[in-house]
Amino acid sequence: MNLISKFPGILEDSKKKYLETKAAGFKISEEINCEEGKWSNVLALGDNGGFMKSLLTEGNMEGKLKLIYIDPPFFSKAVYDAVIHLSPVKGEKLPPVKYFAYDDVWQKDMAGYLTMLCQRLMLMKDLLAEDGTIWIHLDWHVVHYVKVFLDEIFGEENFVNEIVWQYKSGGSGKRHFARKHDTILVYSKSKKYYFAPPKEKSYNRGFKPYRFKGVKEYKDDLGWYTMVTMKDVWQVDMVGRTSSERTGYATQKPEALLERIIESATCEGDLCADFFCGSGTLGAVAERMGRKWICCDGSSLAVSSTLKRLYPQKAAIKVLEEESEHNTSPAKVTFNVKSEEITGSDKEVLTIELVDYQLDNLPITMDEKGKEAMEKILSIDPVNLIEYWSVDFNYDGMVYRPDMIFSKSKGGLETKCEKLISNGTQQKICVKTVDVMGNCTFTIL
Ligand SMILES: C[S@@+](CC[C@H](N)C(=O)[O-])C[C@H]1O[C@@H](n2cnc3c(N)ncnc32)[C@H](O)[C@@H]1O
Repeated sequence: MNLISKFPGILEDSKKKYLETKAAGFKISEEINCEEGKWSNVLALGDNGGFMKSLLTEGNMEGKLKLIYIDPPFFSKAVYDAVIHLSPVKGEKLPPVKYFAYDDVWQKDMAGYLTMLCQRLMLMKDLLAEDGTIWIHLDWHVVHYVKVFLDEIFGEENFVNEIVWQYKSGGSGKRHFARKHDTILVYSKSKKYYFAPPKEKSYNRGFKPYRFKGVKEYKDDLGWYTMVTMKDVWQVDMVGRTSSERTGYATQKPEALLERIIESATCEGDLCADFFCGSGTLGAVAERMGRKWICCDGSSLAVSSTLKRLYPQKAAIKVLEEESEHNTSPAKVTFNVKSEEITGSDKEVLTIELVDYQLDNLPITMDEKGKEAMEKILSIDPVNLIEYWSVDFNYDGMVYRPDMIFSKSKGGLETKCEKLISNGTQQKICVKTVDVMGNCTFTIL
């Protein structure tokens, strides 16, 4: 049977799956900068289907999201790697290590992919506010099929835009023009959707002044122009290799792209969500622009990349984990802990130092060159593998609430932390370490 004749069946199947979606149990595993009675953003690790259902049934979130942006797998049949840049060991530079991030290889077929996506789009429609918009980021692989289903799910009359995001990147084909754009489909839930598009320059023909009555004209080095409502072809640079926003997570999208989307679709304080968040670009930009956000991803590498990105912004975040996830860490971390009394005072200085980091095994998806580099680090400077770590000095045994966070920067990683405490008052201490592959370990000292 050809694909088009399967469409009614795909829609039917998706509806059935949507109605049968069970809310997954999520527990809070970490709270960062959260204050009682105030909004905390949400970062969930787990499958987004069960997560969205739990937002609807337990989180009372129906119709609450002003903006949903998703950048799901594109049915590209590719396996995406994260690229880890290791710090030099004793002055010796190591090659970048490729590590599995997520795959876009669909065991079933296009019909299976479309059913997965449509089931989730139906859940998203329930979460979307009456005046909200949903932005679906795809490319040539599936955008033409997905648009047909979006017309069904959201209604043709609620189509808002098909945005072409044009970029420059390496690679071209001899048998086709270089494919250098993605497509973002925008739909609303009703006619009263919020929309505040930015303005852009539109150069006059010949760069000369028109002098039309009532039209304001401006001039720059190129020539005369007017300011017009932004058009639907956007030229935004990809995240460059040396860009400061680069996380190393495969298929990371540029912050400038998300800025435009958030600015056009929300006001300060509005709630945005990304259920395929990857390295957390939407969360990072929403936080910076004063919006609330909810992000979800099924990969622990994605969640740890998002967290690392958002720590410096001092965002209030609740990290949720699907209860069925058994993330046993393959790592063993060793600390040096000591306390020194301060003479003549009832205080002591507690020092925690990271001294060793060992892994039971390296991922089978890592290539030989990568394994070699990792083994070298493990034998010479293992702590170098830690991307960030944090300490909860008052761990309640349930939810981890870090008091101090240390992230690797260009200057390296701070491996020692000190805290002044009152003699004999110290409670349970828990330390979280996350390595370059996203392996997360909690150690109670
Ligand atoms: C294209 S990437 C997103 C990249 C992101 N926009 C960024 O800027 O980093 C797609 C993400 O979807 C996640 N994903 C795929 N299927 C999922 C599912 N069913 N539930 C949650 N996450 C999923 C993958 O782990 C991957 O991180």
